[in-house]
Amino acid sequence: MKKKKAPKPIYFDCAATTRQKPPQVIKAVTLFANEVGVSHGRGTYKPGIEANELVYGTRAALAKLFHIQRSDRILYMKNVTEGINTALKGFLKSGDHVVLSGLEHNAVIRPLNKLKASRGIEYSIVPANSLGRLNPYDFEKALKPNTKMICLTHASNVTGNLSPVVEVGALCSKKGIAFLVDAAQTAGVVPIDAQALNIDFLAFTGHKGLMGPPGTGGLAVSSKWNLDSFIEGGTGSNSDSEEQPQQWPDKFESGTQNYWGLAGLKAAVDFLLKTSVMAIRKKEEALTVQFLKEVEGIKGLKLLGLPAGAEKERVAVVSLNIEGRDPSEVGYELDEKYGIMTRVGLHCAPLAHRTIGTYPIGTVRFSFGFYNTEKEIETAIKALKEIAKA
Ligand SMILES: Cc1ncc(COP(=O)(O)O)c(C=O)c1O
Repeated sequence: MKKKKAPKPIYFDCAATTRQKPPQVIKAVTLFANEVGVSHGRGTYKPGIEANELVYGTRAALAKLFHIQRSDRILYMKNVTEGINTALKGFLKSGDHVVLSGLEHNAVIRPLNKLKASRGIEYSIVPANSLGRLNPYDFEKALKPNTKMICLTHASNVTGNLSPVVEVGALCSKKGIAFLVDAAQTAGVVPIDAQALNIDFLAFTGHKGLMGPPGTGGLAVSSKWNLDSFIEGGTGSNSDSEEQPQQWPDKFESGTQNYWGLAGLKAAVDFLLKTSVMAIRKKEEALTVQFLKEVEGIKGLKLLGLPAGAEKERVAVVSLNIEGRDPSEVGYELDEKYGIMTRVGLHCAPLAHRTIGTYPIGTVRFSFGFYNTEKEIETAIKALKEIAKA
């Protein structure tokens, strides 16, 4: 008897990391490794100069992508988590108060809890409604005389809903409060103009929507604010001094940088600038609407977050549950029977699940990317119909 062909695996976990990258990214990493392969700011030989150009060129490309006026204020980090930690730990002082949304990732709440214990930082959490929507007026109501910062995820990695960054940014600007945005789920898939949005600290990661390599990311800091470093060491500059240089970005970039990663990140950002983030957003929006429209009507399936008609207010991240089934069982069945990779559970965001009422079991999360196709979405819809029916 002829053996049944295994289905082609489908990757729907782009919120965790984009698996497929533009071919230019892989090519750039290989090219750097083969033909440059040295540190920047150290040697005056030719490859050293090329490494310098890569480090400056990547900053310039990121500045263009995020509308950052001063590229020296873009600090390389290994991911958004490190960017958020640098902003919180380098900025907040004993007795400061922070306002955050109830949809934040552990990348925000864990360092804040550490700072609460070590420095006496206080924080207030702004809740979301039953659809996971945040009301910008609640942020104003949560302010205290000692509020120094508002922390907001640009889009929830659980519901996919976009946050009211325009209104909260304007509030921060009016009140002289620093605005930290976690752009983990939006960088590369939603246009971001840090200046227009009054973002003071923009933390981003290279391996998700930017489609660059893992181990890359950054923190862009407005020139309105200063920040303490908490890692000191060799920077390739001011080598006569035993003190950490104070000029940006050197103050924050001690040690040898991730050049292979930066080479890939530069190629990824160039690809995004050429393709346009808006074109990527449109494609992901269409896939999300196609998915939502069909799964909304499945009996016994509960969608979390905003419905199909509200696609302008969300990214391509969709959480759902099937009545009477544990998310991990559903995720296992999707993978085993249909070859569909999703993420199940709490997605490193227990606070968000408490807020939307899915703690502790979590959800099954589908997250689509630029390289997914309509056909793959059709397969997922069919699979969910069969699973819900069973
Ligand atoms: C909203 C949000 N913040 C932070 C992170 C952490 O991302 P990274 O692992 O790249 O630091 C993620 C990704 O899981 C996320 O979705």
